[in-house]
Amino acid sequence: MIAPSILAADFARLADEAAAVSGPAGADWLHVDVMDAHFVPNLTLGLPVVEALRKATDVPLDCHLMIEDPDRWAIGYAEVGAFNVTVHVEAARDPVALAKNLRAAGARAGLSVKPGTPLEPHLETLRHYDTLLVMSVEPGFGGQSFIPEVLEKVRTARRLVDTGHLTVLVEIDGGINTDTVEAAAEAGVDCFVAGSAVYGADDPGRAVRALRDQVRRTTPDRDWKDA
Ligand code: DX5
Ligand code: ZN
Repeated sequence: MIAPSILAADFARLADEAAAVSGPAGADWLHVDVMDAHFVPNLTLGLPVVEALRKATDVPLDCHLMIEDPDRWAIGYAEVGAFNVTVHVEAARDPVALAKNLRAAGARAGLSVKPGTPLEPHLETLRHYDTLLVMSVEPGFGGQSFIPEVLEKVRTARRLVDTGHLTVLVEIDGGINTDTVEAAAEAGVDCFVAGSAVYGADDPGRAVRALRDQVRRTTPDRDWKDA
């Protein structure tokens, strides 16, 4: 699965930018980075924009909340129809209750870890989640360089999923482009977030297809229909 990040899109033309990657061979999810200038040193968009975007596109919205107090704010994104709502484990006070609330509101629940956050202390918590978002840059800005060390966490998660100990979809976010996507695919990623590699391209739709083709070529033995 490919999830273009609209952080690299033109914020004045979000509906058009969503349309540029939608369609049969297009984006599986649209990744929406919500930043509050507290959890990360950047400010992007919030609930009203997500609600408007939800009405403007059929592509399922993958909301990545880089905010403090997600226990209070995340539920709103599920209520306006986000498909997947991801919170940061470093910010959540009661991530198990939060996952239950997100699911009860009709969304999938995602848990994200920053590059320096280990997975092991959170494995029990992850049993309550649908997606694991492994950050491969420090959250806050697009266009940064991929941190290859995080792939160890991807391999761990892949192993736990393949052996039936976890049921999360493994997502990676940050610095994904034609140079880095193969290593991520080999490590076992299911869903690739790409901002500048998609919206920095002349043809964002074609960039999505190129990334997906590259992933399929790299991992011909994986059954991507089930991912
Ligand atoms: C960074 C965001 C990413 C960002 C990725 O904090 O979470 O989703 O948009 O952008 P690229 O693909 O340019 O690294
Ligand atoms: Zn993100």
